[in-house]
Amino acid sequence: MDHFLYRDGRLMAEDVALDEIAAAVGTPFYCYSAATLTRHFRLLDEALAGTEHLVCFAMKANSNLAVVKLLGDLGAGVDVVSGGEYRRARAAGIPGARIVFSGVGKTKAEMRLALEGGIRQFNVESEPEMLALDAVAREMGVRAPVAVRVNPDVDAKTHEKISTGRKEDKFGIPISRAREVYREAAGLAGLEVVGIDVHIGSQLTDLAPFEQAYRKVAELTAMLRADGHDIRRLDLGGGLGIPYQKSNAAPPLPSDFGEMVRRVLGDLGCEIEIEPGRLIAGNAGVLVSEVIYVKHGEERQFLIVDAAMNDLIRPAMYGAHHDVVPLVEAVPGVEAEVYDIVGPVCESGDTFAKQRALAPLAAGDRIAFRSAGAYGAVMASEYNSRPLVPEVLVSGDQFAVIRARPDFDEMLKRDTIPEWL
Ligand code: LLP
Repeated sequence: MDHFLYRDGRLMAEDVALDEIAAAVGTPFYCYSAATLTRHFRLLDEALAGTEHLVCFAMKANSNLAVVKLLGDLGAGVDVVSGGEYRRARAAGIPGARIVFSGVGKTKAEMRLALEGGIRQFNVESEPEMLALDAVAREMGVRAPVAVRVNPDVDAKTHEKISTGRKEDKFGIPISRAREVYREAAGLAGLEVVGIDVHIGSQLTDLAPFEQAYRKVAELTAMLRADGHDIRRLDLGGGLGIPYQKSNAAPPLPSDFGEMVRRVLGDLGCEIEIEPGRLIAGNAGVLVSEVIYVKHGEERQFLIVDAAMNDLIRPAMYGAHHDVVPLVEAVPGVEAEVYDIVGPVCESGDTFAKQRALAPLAAGDRIAFRSAGAYGAVMASEYNSRPLVPEVLVSGDQFAVIRARPDFDEMLKRDTIPEWL
């Protein structure tokens, strides 16, 4: 459930009409609902109630300071994957004790930054990384809390580009080598082993691969404890899928996920961490865009809109589906037109949707791409020298621009023409 619904024929974000925001900030823009973000966080938090746990929002899905602060105020931790995200988390008021640092290529500078600023745990993904972290921590005279990310060799059955838990993926160390790696970690004076980490992929619509992976983690926990390691936390990663299409079967509910986690891991007495990104932010955001032209091709009708692949790259990159809805509700019974919805960027990949049936639209009409709150604004670029689009947060009947549209001078000023040119 989200808070982008029609009221009196207008598409609302909570109690604000999206058309009103469009008039104030111009299109395209991202709009997030505070109520939906809150609801999704709470659903996950409550799903793990009764077990000691921390829901660490995967900031890669949406790293706007206002979004991160909102979740932090609800008690969320965060999962960061770069020094930039770490800085954002701290700027949004997240204490180091609630920040988990993931990622296969942390640099020594990033490790130092997090150790200086405070960190709950590093999820280390390789032995060279483990040695680097040990060296940095010893130099600083501290011990770095670590979980080793294990690769359980489970097929998450999701999109090729976002599957991470198979042998052939670049993530983690093979679970078969885990005992050896933990033995090595225990011998490094700069590290303190605190747990195990696993993440098998994103947009999973079935609990079975999770359960398969977590069973392996349960077995490994017992083995590592027998070897004398203090395994007190299990980081189960993110990956729970969301409904992108109203018409599709609904993915598993957070409560079902929580029930499965308790069933498989409940007896171990470990603190549970999860790293959801998409489930919290995905359906809490839309991208609003205006039709520039309706072009009647020989075989197809094109809706040329003012948003493009640089603003929302998921359709071009993954062939992802985003529901498209008009800001003014279609009159019931009106005959639909079939459109290809495209942006102005000069490549055919700049296509949001093909053969989409919508009530007839004209230049100047506005549409919203749904499910755009995760992996939307964060993946945007300035390709074609198109400035990043603004982000707006709504809460009840108020809204605020939480990232302003840069002006062109600002963009041009970043480049320098050398004197000798
Ligand atoms: N933890 C780790 C270690 C991850 O690599 C990821 C996502 C997450 C948590 C959060 O996963 P989520 O709960 O959001 O599924 N850009 C792609 C998604 C890439 C996901 C990468 N890792 C997309 O737009 O679909």
